[in-house]
Amino acid sequence: MHPSQEEAYSTALAALGRLDLSPDPDFDRRLAAHFPALFTELSAVYADHPRFLDELAATICLARRSYDARAAELKALDAAREADPAWFQSNRMLGGVAYVDRYAGTLQGLAAELPYFEELGLTYLHLMPLFRAPAENSDGGYAVSSYREVDPRLGTMAELEELAGRLRRRGISLTLDFVFNHTSNEHEWARRALAGEKDYENFYWIFPDRTLPDAYERTTREIFPDDHPGSFVQLPDGRWIWATFYHFQWDLNYSNPAVFRAMGGEMLFLANRGVEILRMDAVAFIWKRLGTTCESLPEAHRLLRAFNALCRIAAPAMIFKSEAIVHPDEVVTYVDPAECPISYNPLMMALGWEALATRDARLLAQAVERRETLPPGCAWVNYVRSHDDIGWTFADEDAAELGINGFDHRRFLNEFYVGRFPGSFAQGEPFQENPRTGDCRIAGTTASLAGLGRDEEAGIDRILLLHSLALALPGIPLLYLGDEVGQRNDPTWRQRPGEAGDSRWTHRPFRPAALYAARHDPATAAGRLFLALQRLIGLRKSIAGFSGGAVRGFWTGNRHVLGFLRPEAGGILVFANFGDEESLISTHRFDALPEDALDLVAGQMVSLREDLRLPPRGFVWLALGIA
Ligand code: GLC
Ligand code: GLC
Repeated sequence: MHPSQEEAYSTALAALGRLDLSPDPDFDRRLAAHFPALFTELSAVYADHPRFLDELAATICLARRSYDARAAELKALDAAREADPAWFQSNRMLGGVAYVDRYAGTLQGLAAELPYFEELGLTYLHLMPLFRAPAENSDGGYAVSSYREVDPRLGTMAELEELAGRLRRRGISLTLDFVFNHTSNEHEWARRALAGEKDYENFYWIFPDRTLPDAYERTTREIFPDDHPGSFVQLPDGRWIWATFYHFQWDLNYSNPAVFRAMGGEMLFLANRGVEILRMDAVAFIWKRLGTTCESLPEAHRLLRAFNALCRIAAPAMIFKSEAIVHPDEVVTYVDPAECPISYNPLMMALGWEALATRDARLLAQAVERRETLPPGCAWVNYVRSHDDIGWTFADEDAAELGINGFDHRRFLNEFYVGRFPGSFAQGEPFQENPRTGDCRIAGTTASLAGLGRDEEAGIDRILLLHSLALALPGIPLLYLGDEVGQRNDPTWRQRPGEAGDSRWTHRPFRPAALYAARHDPATAAGRLFLALQRLIGLRKSIAGFSGGAVRGFWTGNRHVLGFLRPEAGGILVFANFGDEESLISTHRFDALPEDALDLVAGQMVSLREDLRLPPRGFVWLALGIA
């Protein structure tokens, strides 16, 4: 017999009672509101497990202890965010991402960059993983050895907390990763598992021989084939352990409810340090079932919703951002207020680069038309590139409708962006090129992929064009800091141990001090980029029509030109010319529109009773309903 919700709730309340704490109306209200969701999701996953009720009760107790330890300022934020759940839909939102060590040396050093973050207009700052991690190679910090300790080279947890507070008081939400699919092999749980402690062996997927690993690998995909084939690595004692990514990143075993409870505790610990947006790393991989790809299984969604419910109970100011870099049909399955209300938009990212290479905006236009709309209460995070490689995650079915073969097209795009395709402007590098499967992804900074080093004029245009889309599409724009001054690839990664095998380090360079120093000088490429982006950011922040999530495709009749309408506040019409020539949109496309519109970027009126001409790689934002 599976336990009922009533039984589970009274078990949890009894356990809470034994803590001997006085009732807290806010906690009790939130518990009553979100316990049903927590129970529904967890019982669907764990009802058959003998320890299910105990672990659930223990989870509720840790939620209460965590809530009690939460700072008053964060509790006030909890209430404010509950009252305004749409806070992240604002047109004033702007994200930035950086590695602490590469951008500023230490957390203290980063505090010195606050004036710059304000100059840029950031309202959210994603600091790349900054936890204790293996010394030489930690997959850029994504192999976490302790979720409760900052890497001593960067600073301390107290400094992180203090930085979170300083950011918050300036209206900047701290974003950190929750690397919850795996720990490093140096995490205490991993060490104890390796030492043969049963409780901790059960935190991971460990097999005595190759039988089950072979069976699983018949259907799983290879993620880091340069590091090891398949999904498993061998332990010194001859057993095999699940490691989807690097051999030192061991996948956690969420079929064990103690793992959910333990990671729930780590999550709430981070929430209490002042994290406001939690980037849910590698969400697709957290549940495994034989005979499947072991990606995006229903239980992965249930666990995310359970983590979310736990967060609503004990730290409701914090929201989840999903990192699912998968087929577009699958990406959206994570985007839900009860799961991850915000999500990377890898499709728009990849298709922006696709359109630059082909000079053809039709795949992009099709995606805006059919793949941009999210459920209410959710938002995309629009970015030009991240710390990771670019993979061509468009749907083959969508491409086929335009007569494009997905496999061939990906091969072309890879050739193009590593600069092997004749006439390519791009200066990227291959990442995890797999000759066996023909698979490959792309590394490179925005400036290098856009060919800034080959042709400055065209390179600047391309960088601005892609950013203009990230700033005009519905959602939160996210800048990779350094891109806004045109930072190029860093070839020195090949000499650094721990990085040499991973070409993504080419696009994770150190803070470009000289480029930043030139950012106000319009005679430099850095200055031209920065000043133009600053203007676009300012415009976006001043125009209410850029808030919220509504968008409609606008077919331009010209395959080089993407068009879409943001219908709020009178409407903003956006056009982006991916052609290397001037492109024209015929006036009859505007028949249903007012006669005149305000070109927001140029600051002048344009007549829609004439054809609209866009310069090579140019874009416009037209405010309708102004005249
Ligand atoms: C995510 C990170 C990536 C990392 C992987 C494993 O995809 O973005 O950098 O390698 O997870 O944690
Ligand atoms: C794979 C994963 C993605 C991760 C990437 C890291 O593509 O699907 O989650 O970001 O590898 O390179």
